[in-house]
Amino acid sequence: MVDAAVWDIGYLMAAALFILGIKRLSSPRTAPQGNRMGAMGMFLAVLVTLARMQSEGVIGWELIVGGLAIGAIIGALMATRVEMTGMPELVALFNGFGGGASALVALSEVLGRLQQGNVPDAGIELYAIWIAIGLSGIVGWVTLTGSLVAMMKLKGGFYVPFSKKDERGRSKWISFPTWGPKWLNTVKILLLTTSLALIWMTIDDPTNRDYIWMIVGFSSLLGILFVMPIGGADMPVVVSLLNSLSGIAAAFTGFVIGNNVLIIAGSMVGAAGLILTFIMCKAMNRTLPDVLFKAFGGSGEKDQLTRSKVGSDPEEVAMVLDGAQKVIVVPGYGMAVSQSQHAVKEFADLMEAEGCDVSYAIHPVAGRMPGHMNVLLAEASVPYEKLIEMDDINSEFPDCDVALVIGANDTTNPAARTGEGPLAGMPILDVDKARVVVIIKRSLSVGYAGVDNDVFYMDKTMMLFGDGKKMMNELNSALKEL
Ligand code: TAP
Repeated sequence: MVDAAVWDIGYLMAAALFILGIKRLSSPRTAPQGNRMGAMGMFLAVLVTLARMQSEGVIGWELIVGGLAIGAIIGALMATRVEMTGMPELVALFNGFGGGASALVALSEVLGRLQQGNVPDAGIELYAIWIAIGLSGIVGWVTLTGSLVAMMKLKGGFYVPFSKKDERGRSKWISFPTWGPKWLNTVKILLLTTSLALIWMTIDDPTNRDYIWMIVGFSSLLGILFVMPIGGADMPVVVSLLNSLSGIAAAFTGFVIGNNVLIIAGSMVGAAGLILTFIMCKAMNRTLPDVLFKAFGGSGEKDQLTRSKVGSDPEEVAMVLDGAQKVIVVPGYGMAVSQSQHAVKEFADLMEAEGCDVSYAIHPVAGRMPGHMNVLLAEASVPYEKLIEMDDINSEFPDCDVALVIGANDTTNPAARTGEGPLAGMPILDVDKARVVVIIKRSLSVGYAGVDNDVFYMDKTMMLFGDGKKMMNELNSALKEL
């Protein structure tokens, strides 16, 4: 058998790669290298674990290769098929898989021990192992079911399998509700305290399998009820919190199976996710308890649109842009849907060639995942220094000739400045303070949070109705013809 020190050295190298990788993620320039280092670290950790299991005779090569092949095929299919706009749902699903994997490892560990009669005698070892297994289970199941609900919410709902198809051949679609009466907070607290109490009861009576299944049931239900009431603009907070929980569950699992690299990697994901959660809370001007306990579901209804606005055409907008000295581009989710980032970059090049100063205003929750706009614009080779954070650019809108909003809605909605509604209190990009506002979107319809946007109806606003990429290309052509 190989000396245990060899495995520890392998794990140490993997952990070092994770830490260096995360360090490099702190700047967009070094981020791709950081990603590669993290992936190398994970590859090394998997190799060392497999070699160790093989050396200790825990598992045969058939199972290892079989598991790797199934996982690799599913992962590759999902990663290559997913549209860029489906990434947030995929990230939510991966968080859930992480939590589910930890929960299953904890469950198999406890059931395996009970089957083999390998229960530690009452004392510190029993406490340590049973508490680690219990916490890994609770956090894991909460993460799994909570992430599945979050995924459905991001998707908006789901097609019912095997349902009767409509005349256009589509299965029945069920919209996912945002539901959460006030009394639900009491139920959530009861479920959490009962699950924790059940860990204690399993220590008292370690062979009682009923307690274990009750922990599985209660914590799974808790995950669903915890995410159900949260919706609208608060979803980014909940997704990053679930990401953090998946790391915490993995760290507990590391204790359960005595795997150091899992403890390190899990703690890093847990800590990084928690930092992101607080950054998101700050961006939304919310506290975490507000998001978790003051989301009462609301009606989940979208505002009914009663107003109308006459659209402009690209030629008219090009004439307004002619001679503009300062333009701020405000990208949002619609830019991601229409994949118009390259056309946006071409627009900026055309304007800059005429001596105009063009910059990009980045709202922290624009799009559907953290850094969504940064990634898309970097792909279109927009220089990083042109991407300006909300807090830094808001003071520039009053001096800006044209704010060009491409597929952004909630992040520009002045309804957030009032104290009511799903957007209440969220800081926004002050596009309404620009001299002229040009908005490219397909209709007057609401954004993710379902709130009508007053900016569309201002006299100084020109609406360019249509798909983002098509309208940007037409605007670019009109600019070239000036
Ligand atoms: P949204 O408020 O979601 O609005 C996007 C707009 O894009 C829609 O009103 C839509 O209007 C338009 N659009 C869609 N497809 C388009 C296309 N092909 N061409 C042109 N326009 C198109 O966007 P936002 O301002 O980026 O705000 C993001 C929202 O998502 C916030 O509420 C945020 O809290 C939430 N959220 C964010 C995240 C993260 S981490 N970023 C995660 C979950 C949720 P039309 O239908 O009229 O075209």
